[in-house]
Amino acid sequence: MASSTGLTDVEFMNKKSLILIFFILACVFCGAGGKASAQQAIPDTIDQRAIACTACHGKEGRATSEGFFPRIAGKPAAYLYNQLVNFREGHRQYPMMTYMVDQMSDAYLRELASYFSGLNPPYPPPQVVSAGKEQLERGRQLALSGDSARKIPACVACHGQRLTGVIPAIPGLLGLPHDYLNAQFGAWRNKSRRTPAPDCMAEITSRLSPGDVSAVTTWLASQPVPADSAPAPSLPARLPLSCGSANDVLVSGSAPQEGGQP
Ligand code: HEC
Ligand code: HEC
Repeated sequence: MASSTGLTDVEFMNKKSLILIFFILACVFCGAGGKASAQQAIPDTIDQRAIACTACHGKEGRATSEGFFPRIAGKPAAYLYNQLVNFREGHRQYPMMTYMVDQMSDAYLRELASYFSGLNPPYPPPQVVSAGKEQLERGRQLALSGDSARKIPACVACHGQRLTGVIPAIPGLLGLPHDYLNAQFGAWRNKSRRTPAPDCMAEITSRLSPGDVSAVTTWLASQPVPADSAPAPSLPARLPLSCGSANDVLVSGSAPQEGGQP
């Protein structure tokens, strides 16, 4: 659904998926409980524990290109870890996610993050979006070049030339559902998604018009993921804005940067 009312659609989908997921989880937990009471040995491995996550995030965390649940497989480990902490601490809002991680220790969240970061299942084909040529062109321009007149840096300046993310904590932007992407911009705008200051994505969101958000998320959702989907090890230049959650990114040929221009 490539509508400009992405948020409303997403709110609607959230409600629908919450109900569905409640039942899936009930099954995951009652299944585990039932086995335990029957005193069957459940192997206590990370693969086993991660099954509760795959109820929503798909087999091996691969998600799908439709719907709302984001892929978590193959994302930079520190990025995944930061997000799990964000849900636990209330810096991102999705009740079932908070419920999942509420009682988990930092060490356990790190283990889950590195587990999913290390998986690399295939990506589904990109979403088919309904968008005009002009809208797609505006989206492409924002992603690859930005808009200097409006002080909008190119997405590739931080998310990597191939938009596959940068280790340790910048996520890739390809292979994510259109509705999920839109919802993140809605969350930065209403401050329900936050990072340690300076929150560069909140700043960038404030510089984008609703039309720009729609254009760039539509373009991103329609792009194929390159064959080598691994996050880049470094960026060619300093971040154009300082990001509190990503200041330890490497700039090629130099030491970790101290932070970009405020
Ligand atoms: C009930 C469904 C559900 C379950 C179960 C679930 N998640 Fe999620 N998860 C979501 C949704 C929906 C989002 C996106 C929420 C939002 O809009 O910010 C999300 C977001 C995330 C993110 C952030 C992804 C990103 O790209 O920023 C991570 C990491 C994550 N989940 C990991 C996990 C792990 C690990 C588990 C198992 C312990 C788990 N999830 C279980 C539904 C679920
Ligand atoms: C100054 C660096 C910077 C620029 C420029 C930038 N981003 Fe980001 N972006 C980040 C960082 C850092 C994060 C991780 C934030 C966190 O830890 O929650 C992020 C996260 C995201 C996410 C969340 C992905 C997920 O899986 O939940 C989306 C979507 C996103 N950015 C889109 C964009 C788009 C679109 C552009 C271009 C218009 C852009 N970003 C430009 C630094 C940047």
